[in-house]
Amino acid sequence: MVVENKGIISYIRILKEDLEILRIVPDGGTVPEFKAGQFVTLSLNNPDEGKLVRRAYSIASPPEKKKYFELLIRWVKKPLPGRLTTQLFNRKEGDEIGWLKPTGIFTVNEKMHDGSPDNRRLVLIGGGTGLAPFISYSLHLKAIGSKREIIVLHGASYVDELSYRELLTELEEESLDKGQDKWNFKYRASISRPHEPFNRSWGGQKGRVESFLRPEPGRDTSPLEEIVGERITPENTSFYVCGWQGTVDGVLDFLKPKGFVDERHKRKDGSYEIKFESYG
Ligand SMILES: Cc1cc2nc3c(=O)[nH]c(=O)nc-3n(C[C@H](O)[C@H](O)[C@H](O)COP(=O)(O)OP(=O)(O)OC[C@H]3O[C@@H](n4cnc5c(N)ncnc54)[C@H](O)[C@@H]3O)c2cc1C
Ligand SMILES: NC(=O)c1ccc[n+]([C@@H]2O[C@H](COP(=O)([O-])OP(=O)(O)OC[C@H]3O[C@@H](n4cnc5c(N)ncnc54)[C@H](OP(=O)(O)O)[C@@H]3O)[C@@H](O)[C@H]2O)c1
Repeated sequence: MVVENKGIISYIRILKEDLEILRIVPDGGTVPEFKAGQFVTLSLNNPDEGKLVRRAYSIASPPEKKKYFELLIRWVKKPLPGRLTTQLFNRKEGDEIGWLKPTGIFTVNEKMHDGSPDNRRLVLIGGGTGLAPFISYSLHLKAIGSKREIIVLHGASYVDELSYRELLTELEEESLDKGQDKWNFKYRASISRPHEPFNRSWGGQKGRVESFLRPEPGRDTSPLEEIVGERITPENTSFYVCGWQGTVDGVLDFLKPKGFVDERHKRKDGSYEIKFESYG
């Protein structure tokens, strides 16, 4: 049976007209147990339809944050205004919203297929709002004192869509300050429309986020391999990808010929090193 819960939108941070970070405080005051990478289903009444519309949103806050769920949401404008997001972007702080308890399988593996600890490097690739689950992963892994190497790669069309840039930069600075034996974290972003005037100050990686995996013409190593300083192999790295299906496909096209296997096509022994979640 679906149990509809209520909550209050406690905070809205508008990043741009169609992109915002919001927090929801559940009635009762405490966020239920969930795992980093899971999503919450929001429900709002759509007056045009006279019924509730429900949609899934990845939780960006970590499970340790008990006061609120934090979400990163795009207002879908085209080709038709999205049924839930158009309602949501008209809501204000203090308004009520419905939610269903968190669920989902896009969670970070702490163990290998054989039960041994998974100590491989984590490469977390987010396209646009597909960054959200990786904010939860990163903050959770930090909260539990994980020593794994974590690389967050974020792709966006415009520089002002690099949501969580300050947080992710701070997490990397902390890694440099404390030492990688204590907290091993790197963040890199890529801008896919570098020639647009708005992006003219961008000096980082250019192209869609999967371009981090592709060696530049005339080079033997990919930008990602240059960041980590060694060849990426299924033995030393696991990948998590979230965003458009095209982003997932771009990553798979690159990794599969190198012997990487995804969760939906596990090897006979149950092993794999790519997990993904996509929609649209
Ligand atoms: C597991 C999961 C996690 C997600 N996490 C996030 C997240 O963290 N952040 C985020 O922003 N999104 C996330 N999404 C996407 C989110 O669930 C919604 O799909 C999205 O917000 C659009 O919902 P909507 O009701 O506003 O749009 P909808 O009304 O569902 O419309 C979606 C698109 O279809 C088009 N469309 C609808 N009806 C028609 C029609 N009749 N003819 C032609 N086109 C049509 C709309 O114009 C729009 O482009 C996630 C999805 C999943 C499955
Ligand atoms: N857990 C989940 O399943 C989850 C969580 C959050 C979001 N999502 C989904 O992720 C998608 C991201 O939406 P968004 O509005 O945040 O993204 P966006 O800002 O439109 O795009 C983000 C980046 O992805 C690129 N991109 C766009 N379409 C692409 C395609 N078909 N193939 C490869 N790359 C593409 C963009 O490049 P260009 O500049 O070239 O367009 C941009 O660099 C949506 O489908 C959303 O519903 C899923």
